[in-house]
Amino acid sequence: MQTIQTPFQILGEQGIRELTSAFYDIMDSLPEAAGVRAMHAADLAPMKEKLAEYLIGWMGGPPLYAQKYGSVCMTEPHEHYHIGPEERDQWLLCMHKALAQTGASEELVDMLRQPLFRIADAIRNREGPSAAATDANIIAAG
Ligand code: HEM
Repeated sequence: MQTIQTPFQILGEQGIRELTSAFYDIMDSLPEAAGVRAMHAADLAPMKEKLAEYLIGWMGGPPLYAQKYGSVCMTEPHEHYHIGPEERDQWLLCMHKALAQTGASEELVDMLRQPLFRIADAIRNREGPSAAATDANIIAAG
């Protein structure tokens, strides 16, 4: 009988750290992700660490983020950012490119596709993109 493995068992902690690092490097350089990149601080190193800790727990490993920050709720830390369908899709694009770049199997990508969409869509707090994402002349948009 085939045993079903969690993404954590497939990738391991190191694999998830590599995925997270690739994810932010892609966000940092991909023109299509410029909108979400601009929402983040200049230094992405702290985010690489936080997202890795989060995903290690989310993918079935030890709950590092929950232990450190006391919650796994992601709506609250994102509520001050404008996250519409475009921002959600930019985030997901970076994650799918990171999975491909780090050599994730087709099986793993299929396993993660829907849960990743669900968590990203749950974080979405607007119906549409921010004005900043569509109009380069707007300096600040809520
Ligand atoms: C849907 C599109 C998303 C956008 C646009 C977005 C954007 C952001 C931004 C701007 C920050 C703050 C970064 C900073 O302080 O420099 C952040 C923090 C964070 N995001 Fe996202 N995010 C998205 C989805 C997700 C998803 C799906 C996850 C988890 C699977 C996630 C996990 C995190 C974590 C763990 C933090 C750190 C929270 C803390 O301060 O403890 N994000 N995100």
